[in-house]
Amino acid sequence: MSHELEVEALFDEWAIEDGAVDMAREHWARVEPVLSALKPCTGRYLEIGPGNGYALEYMAGSKFAGGYSHAVELSQEMARMCAARVQGRDNVDIDVESFMNWRPPAGMQFDLIFSMEVFYYFEDIAAAIDKAASLLAPGGELIVMVDYYEESHESQGWSQELGVSLTRWPQRRYLEAFKEAGLQAVSQEVKSGGVHEHGLTLCTRGKRPSTYVHD
Ligand SMILES: C[S@@+](CC[C@H](N)C(=O)[O-])C[C@H]1O[C@@H](n2cnc3c(N)ncnc32)[C@H](O)[C@@H]1O
Repeated sequence: MSHELEVEALFDEWAIEDGAVDMAREHWARVEPVLSALKPCTGRYLEIGPGNGYALEYMAGSKFAGGYSHAVELSQEMARMCAARVQGRDNVDIDVESFMNWRPPAGMQFDLIFSMEVFYYFEDIAAAIDKAASLLAPGGELIVMVDYYEESHESQGWSQELGVSLTRWPQRRYLEAFKEAGLQAVSQEVKSGGVHEHGLTLCTRGKRPSTYVHD
């Protein structure tokens, strides 16, 4: 079985088991302070690997309520739950596909691209960061949050526990890859929160330079 098929099967199972509710609750405690601090936007939002869709629902209903939201999710079962959460909204689309193979609608660029707990499932994280950066509109921001990284002792055994290979980068590699992808104002912080999650979530963010030139 290919790596992506293994990951897809894993998350289909989680979705069917309990709707990924516990995972979403724990993640939301760390995601909420990041997303709630953003300004409302009438542009476009992209979420990579939204899981059961808790953050997509929040963004589509608040920060991007006057704009457009799009999600790309590998697991059919997770995508089904996302769709239920945003049902009735005509400004949200969800594609069921690997982000690495996905192509956005022609010419579409995004003002914000967000992902929580997804990038270490990519075999080539740098390629995923490059691809996300290339989809940003000028001045757009990429925010990538992960719990599985080299400095996080708590996550050390995850690959073995889950039975899938995961890519374990050190914090600085995320910073470097954001800069190598041409992003500016690159910064990093760690977030805590939730009841059962003991490690810290690494949040890396950076912006595509704006090409807008004042007269
Ligand atoms: C640990 S879950 C996190 C879900 C959600 N972001 C959250 O915070 O709860 C990882 C999610 O990423 C998705 N995923 C993994 N690899 C992916 C890929 N190549 N393309 C799109 N989604 C992917 C999985 O199907 C799963 O829903």
